[in-house]
Amino acid sequence: MAVHPQLDIDRLTAELAALAAISEAEPPVVTRVVFTEADLRAREYVKGLCADAGLALQVDAIGNTFARWDGAEPELAPIGTGSHIDAIPNAGSYDGTVGVLGGLEAIRSLQRVGFRPRRAVELVIFTAEEPTRFGIGCLGSRMMGHVLAPAAALALRDKQGNGLEELRSQAGFAGALESVAVHAERFHQFVELHIEQGPLLEQEGIDLGLVTHIAAPASLRINIEGEGGHAGGKLMPGRKDALAAAAELILALEVAAKSTGAIDTVATVGVCEVFPGAVNSIPSRVRLETDIRDIDGARRDRVLGALHEACGDVAARRGVIITTDLVNADPPTACDLAIVAVMETSAAEAGRSCKRMVARAYHDSSFVACIAPVAMLFIPCRGGVSHRPDEYASPEWISGGVDVLARTLAHLAG
Ligand code: GLV
Ligand code: MN
Ligand code: MN
Repeated sequence: MAVHPQLDIDRLTAELAALAAISEAEPPVVTRVVFTEADLRAREYVKGLCADAGLALQVDAIGNTFARWDGAEPELAPIGTGSHIDAIPNAGSYDGTVGVLGGLEAIRSLQRVGFRPRRAVELVIFTAEEPTRFGIGCLGSRMMGHVLAPAAALALRDKQGNGLEELRSQAGFAGALESVAVHAERFHQFVELHIEQGPLLEQEGIDLGLVTHIAAPASLRINIEGEGGHAGGKLMPGRKDALAAAAELILALEVAAKSTGAIDTVATVGVCEVFPGAVNSIPSRVRLETDIRDIDGARRDRVLGALHEACGDVAARRGVIITTDLVNADPPTACDLAIVAVMETSAAEAGRSCKRMVARAYHDSSFVACIAPVAMLFIPCRGGVSHRPDEYASPEWISGGVDVLARTLAHLAG
């Protein structure tokens, strides 16, 4: 029998706004980097809302937070939902937060109509989905899914040289990192609600995206060591300008990504640090951080290979030293088609249009997929804009997502 969740969209809209106001930057800019004071305040805010809803809270050694709505049969593995609340510098209000506060509202909307799940429903707030601080995305879910070992996590440092161990303990998270990885029965199934971060749903006037695949992300750090000197005194022949070398690599990556001919191949150089960074000094050192993605892992790897080749070629021609450090090269994720079918049924029950699609951003669900069947539910966002302060999802779009998430959770939890 279909359940009819009762949403309080005004309350959810107010909570999203309150969470967005917890930021290291002036509103409407959201910056909430993991283990900063803003991140910790945001966690307290969300935990308070979860406690108000009667959910039992647990926090693991890396700060992944679990808020559990008990089911009638406690021995059954729970249905998981959730996302992240950290935000990159200069971000908006909806990336990740819609999955966390929307997940909470989905639970409350079922509680309001007296629904009693057979399986527990557990809301998860993952630590550091964004790679801002440690250079690697999905830190909490990656550790949960056995993809990042504790020893490798302990080697992570932020740009100031602070280690993960020191930062997590200052933030109040303790316990053996070994305990973060969970067993395969930890969740029966997992569903993440998220904004699309692309333009398709809005353009096509479709309420919901049912994600079947999540793209394969890779990140390569490139260090270029050239030779500095006076910008006036040192003549052009024989220069070893590290930034000029970097420019060649940036363009080589763009060419490699475009030349696959596939719309799903994307590549970006989002970080370029230049030393010493003075207008009258030849750059002696450059650090690039690159991001390459595709839904086809082999095709993504060919672009990565082309970038490596370009590094060798540029180093030889320009006499600079180039070293690389592969941060991650994750495989694409296939979502569970049985959950997708349940989302489809739920969308029909809610009178919402939907289509199957791929996720081009990365998500905690990719790593939860290592321990449980997963699927994702996308809602439109205006202009496809994300990772910008003008990121926007209307209350109507959010309502559609939360309603269908609630119905899906009700079906899965029984
Ligand atoms: C996560 O926000 C990503 O970079 O896809
Ligand atoms: Mn993001
Ligand atoms: Mn996100």
